[in-house]
Amino acid sequence: MKIIIKNSAADASAAVTDMLLQQIGKKPDSVLGLPTGATPLAVYARLRDEFRNGRGCYKDITTFNLDEYLGLSAEDPASYSFYMRENLFRHVDFDLGRAHIPHGLAADADAEANRYEALIAAYGGIDFMLLGLGRNAHIGFNEPGSLHNSRTRRVALTASTLEANAAYFPPGAKQPSHAITMGIGTILESREIVVLAAGAEKAEAVAASVKGPGTEFVPGSALGRHPNTTIVLDTAAAQHLERAQTLEFDA
Ligand code: F6R
Repeated sequence: MKIIIKNSAADASAAVTDMLLQQIGKKPDSVLGLPTGATPLAVYARLRDEFRNGRGCYKDITTFNLDEYLGLSAEDPASYSFYMRENLFRHVDFDLGRAHIPHGLAADADAEANRYEALIAAYGGIDFMLLGLGRNAHIGFNEPGSLHNSRTRRVALTASTLEANAAYFPPGAKQPSHAITMGIGTILESREIVVLAAGAEKAEAVAASVKGPGTEFVPGSALGRHPNTTIVLDTAAAQHLERAQTLEFDA
């Protein structure tokens, strides 16, 4: 695992933005795996800015999002479909027909998960997977206890994740308790994985994921098994790592 530590969350986001732009530059029909949440907001904002300045072409890009809440329609402002349209897709020359996100209103969530898994395989897998990291080291919505060879499936969200994400729901709105997530095994089949984590509240999850041991109780620790993973951090998120463990250190 390659670890890059930047002085600030903004610099870490800029580094990840460059990696994404390099990917779509070298392979214009890339299949991208994308996260939602707070962490990638600055990356998507930079991609929008770069696009306005003529950098980045999304016409032939295909995307697979990591997860979606069960019970929310794609029009619900708290859904990840809505998030992706608002934060990235509608601002660039992206064909929405190539955006794949599990259907939150699927009548049969298990069948929807299997469909999604098969669709990723039909596209030949994911070239470049961007991940955030939960405070409990979850990746996608693979909560602690998820098998490292798990596939796309319906999952129950933990209390810690529900609490962390409560802010995205207006007062009085019912927060979904379940989601469909790409599995850890599905994620690990991506050809390249980049993890972005910033802030002190991620420091323990980062340390547990990077230092190991690989255990199902720390979903992020599965990444140590992947041959081409880079984790990009700010100094706060990296505070429990020893300098010798990092390959690039800007601070
Ligand atoms: C979101 C996702 C989650 C988030 C994680 C971190 O699609 O897959 O794993 O990446 O919960 O969320 P933030 O960035 O809000 O701290």
